[in-house]
Amino acid sequence: MNMSEQYDLYAEYEEFDNGRSTHRNRDRWTTKPKQNKHADNKQEEVLAMDDGITTWIPTYAQNLDPLHHERQWVINAVAHFYQENIITDVTRRVKGGKEANVYACVANPASGLEWIAAKLYRERMLRSLKNDAVYKVGRTIRDREGKQVRNSRERRAIINKSGYGQEADFMMWVGTEFRTQTLLYEAGADVPKPVAQHGHSILMEFIGDEYGAAPALNEISLARDEAGPLFQRVMENVEIMLDHHLIHGDLSAYNILYWQGDIWLIDFPQAVEARANPHAYDILERDITRVSEYFSRFGVDSNPKQLAWDLWHPYSQKEGIE
Ligand SMILES: Nc1ncnc2c1ncn2[C@@H]1O[C@H](COP(=O)(O)OP(=O)(O)OP(=O)(O)O)[C@@H](O)[C@H]1O
Ligand SMILES: [Mg+2]
Repeated sequence: MNMSEQYDLYAEYEEFDNGRSTHRNRDRWTTKPKQNKHADNKQEEVLAMDDGITTWIPTYAQNLDPLHHERQWVINAVAHFYQENIITDVTRRVKGGKEANVYACVANPASGLEWIAAKLYRERMLRSLKNDAVYKVGRTIRDREGKQVRNSRERRAIINKSGYGQEADFMMWVGTEFRTQTLLYEAGADVPKPVAQHGHSILMEFIGDEYGAAPALNEISLARDEAGPLFQRVMENVEIMLDHHLIHGDLSAYNILYWQGDIWLIDFPQAVEARANPHAYDILERDITRVSEYFSRFGVDSNPKQLAWDLWHPYSQKEGIE
């Protein structure tokens, strides 16, 4: 069974979001073993999996039923980072979603970090990317190693999303997220420091502490005196992105983390190339509108259409965009 098939198998399992319970149970770092109702008929498939490293089982996986697909999926997805001495353990699932799960990992001290967040994508996300063409316009087509694809047969396979093309397309999304985050981090934007990418997995600085991950803005209420400066800071980040020809594409209170008075923008796989994408302005305006709506609940008055235009107009003039 190859890696993609394992991901798909795992994707058959129930999805749930434990983001909120994470915050309610901040002192619980481990998950109790779960009974796996598919155990019988899936046993053979699990046994057939090549687990690669049999000696290392991260704490989070130890607490799962050995027949639970998530266990092997997590081990396979992070083993490379363990072998590369970037992480020493995976302790908990921070969030399980349709597209990716995020796990808290103990960082190898050599990385200079204490905790690392591992975002592991599921193969299944392909199915939720029906409208991804809107975001992809103007992107460089890359293969699974991240190299630019010039060969027309390969480009067609990727565009048509068949077989090899699907896998390469998937890798393009993961690669886009990592490259975008690296570029923005280096440009001084408020994004978690990217650490490594391998296969369908991305490692980055963990925002939060040993008790749990930082909440997203949608999970908290802001004090009125901090809302204004934080809105300003988000808008500065939108401007830094545009200076680098990027638009987030899914910016909202769900994709901005809050920790100790600061904000971090996350979740970049759908980032848009501002010069080449004909929908760039609409996407920018939508991002700013969603953020403005959130902050208006805490007394921040803004005119999102005007803000979007004030950013876009000088940019489009400079770049010669009509
Ligand atoms: N660097 C990080 N540090 C701490 N927590 C993080 C980090 N990155 C992501 N998370 C947690 O994981 C959640 C999901 O991350 P992200 O938005 O990148 O993935 P997603 O698959 O798009 O999820 P969703 O579909 O819910 O938006 C975040 O809301 C946050 O709770
Ligand atoms: Mg998200």
